[in-house]
Amino acid sequence: MERRDFLKKSAAAGAALITQPQQVLGQLHDPNPKYRPVVISSANGLAATARAMELIQSGSDALDACIAGVNIVEDDPEDITVGLGGLPNEDGVVELDSCVMHGPTCRGAGVASLQNIKNPSKVAKVIMERTDHVLLVGQGALKFARMHGFEEMNLLTDRSRNEWLKWKENLSKEDDWLPPHTMEDKDIGDLLRGYARTYGTINCNGLDKDGNLSGVTTTSGLFFKIPGRVGDSPILGAGLFVDNAVGAAGSTGRGEANLLNCSSVMIVEYMRQGKSPEQACLLACQRIVDHTKEARLLNDDKKPKFDVKFYAINKRGDFGGAAIWSGMKFALNTGEPASVLKEGAYLFKRN
Ligand code: GLY
Repeated sequence: MERRDFLKKSAAAGAALITQPQQVLGQLHDPNPKYRPVVISSANGLAATARAMELIQSGSDALDACIAGVNIVEDDPEDITVGLGGLPNEDGVVELDSCVMHGPTCRGAGVASLQNIKNPSKVAKVIMERTDHVLLVGQGALKFARMHGFEEMNLLTDRSRNEWLKWKENLSKEDDWLPPHTMEDKDIGDLLRGYARTYGTINCNGLDKDGNLSGVTTTSGLFFKIPGRVGDSPILGAGLFVDNAVGAAGSTGRGEANLLNCSSVMIVEYMRQGKSPEQACLLACQRIVDHTKEARLLNDDKKPKFDVKFYAINKRGDFGGAAIWSGMKFALNTGEPASVLKEGAYLFKRN
């Protein structure tokens, strides 16, 4: 079947699925399930998935394991898209977003625009466990983290501060910021080089030995964002969704597209219908493509200029990833000491 035909048929069936959950659940029901632990993440999660699997193998719950995995990346100042050393907002202030979902208890929570705390994923878990709320933001979230003993620190490293300065100094020849230049340079504007802003993040989802699913997404968000901008990563249903009976899915890439399309919950619903994780991720990509209408977001071929990447697992331990554009990879661990990078599916091949 041609991919477009498959996508059309899947989308039609997807509409039916949401109204008939019991029928669909039956497709994944196995009277003698044998759970095969699996952990999947974005490509920056090789160490994270290995750590999460190590914990799962020793009996850990999938959420604790996945959070411990992404903490490695949050703590790493060399990953400039997550936690400590994440790129700041346009004022040079690091604002972090994260959410967690725990399949067996159907609980979850997020934290957004959190400053000074390097592990927003841990804060999200405490919000889930110790409040009746599902989302805390900004100063209230920081106050909550302080109350729970999280250590405050300056998250802006020399590297992320220098990247921010480079962006600021190259923004416009009309402002007063100058990139490095020599005394002889007459028009500093000629030296300006645009900074390719992007949306790095880590999403990590796991199936543990008890057959329970959980996930976490954590990020510093869009590079040099407007202060207070919140992406998909702290929003349940957009940057992450888990249904313990069906599967777990999460995302990296343009958060605005996922917020407008509730992509992660849609992937889980496509899997509930019986789609494989990869098929479900492709359907979410196609949904974004179909819903992207603004000319400023489209290239000459009327395809999105941006990318969004998805990572999914189901209750059987099947896994898959897909993106709008080719070149997507994901990190995977199915029980080995070392994780591997796998090629994901895609809708459009890059030139
Ligand atoms: N997906 C990360 C963000 O848009 O902030």
